[in-house]
Amino acid sequence: MLNFVKNSTVAAVSSLLFSVCTAQSDLEQPGRNFNSLKDLADKLNATVQTNVESAREGNADNIARGAKLYKENCVQCHRDNAQGTPNWHTKDASGNYPPPPLNGTAHTWHHPQSLLVKLIRDGSKVMPAFGAKLSDEEITDIIYWFQSLWPDEVYSSWAQINQSYKESSN
Ligand code: HEC
Repeated sequence: MLNFVKNSTVAAVSSLLFSVCTAQSDLEQPGRNFNSLKDLADKLNATVQTNVESAREGNADNIARGAKLYKENCVQCHRDNAQGTPNWHTKDASGNYPPPPLNGTAHTWHHPQSLLVKLIRDGSKVMPAFGAKLSDEEITDIIYWFQSLWPDEVYSSWAQINQSYKESSN
């Protein structure tokens, strides 16, 4: 959460600096000040980008392992790109919900990390339990993989839910 606040503050400062630079360049020949301010704005922009990426917890190795484990264990129900079943919010003939999307278009992002791990470990109504087959680390890598499909704004909403949940359960 703090990271996001920090990032948006840096982004705001950085774009402000950038407009100051542009305004200055209209009024006068770009001199040393302009160059150093513009350099600073560029550097800040680069920092913002790195922070946005590193704000997501799983790294490329975690995500690659998660993708493989997903294909081996989850793909038959949640589909190739975790898009789930088209009619996932309508109960089937036996009164159960079909596998939902995990790609950020349904409500998976409403669950904090520890509850996602628990759900995959212990299963649910139709969702099988994977605790005997996958370690918590492997389950976490799968979560990193499907989270890598979430747009930034979905991830950022999830990160806030996750943070409040962690604080309330401490
Ligand atoms: C046999 C089909 C099936 C398999 C295999 C399966 N799931 Fe599910 N999953 C479901 C169903 C159906 C649900 C909806 C809850 C229920 O009825 O159990 C679900 C729910 C979920 C949810 C909660 C989604 C939400 O929005 O609340 C997550 C997360 C999830 N599955 C992850 C996985 C992962 C990760 C794997 C592989 C390790 C996996 N599932 C394998 C059928 C499956």
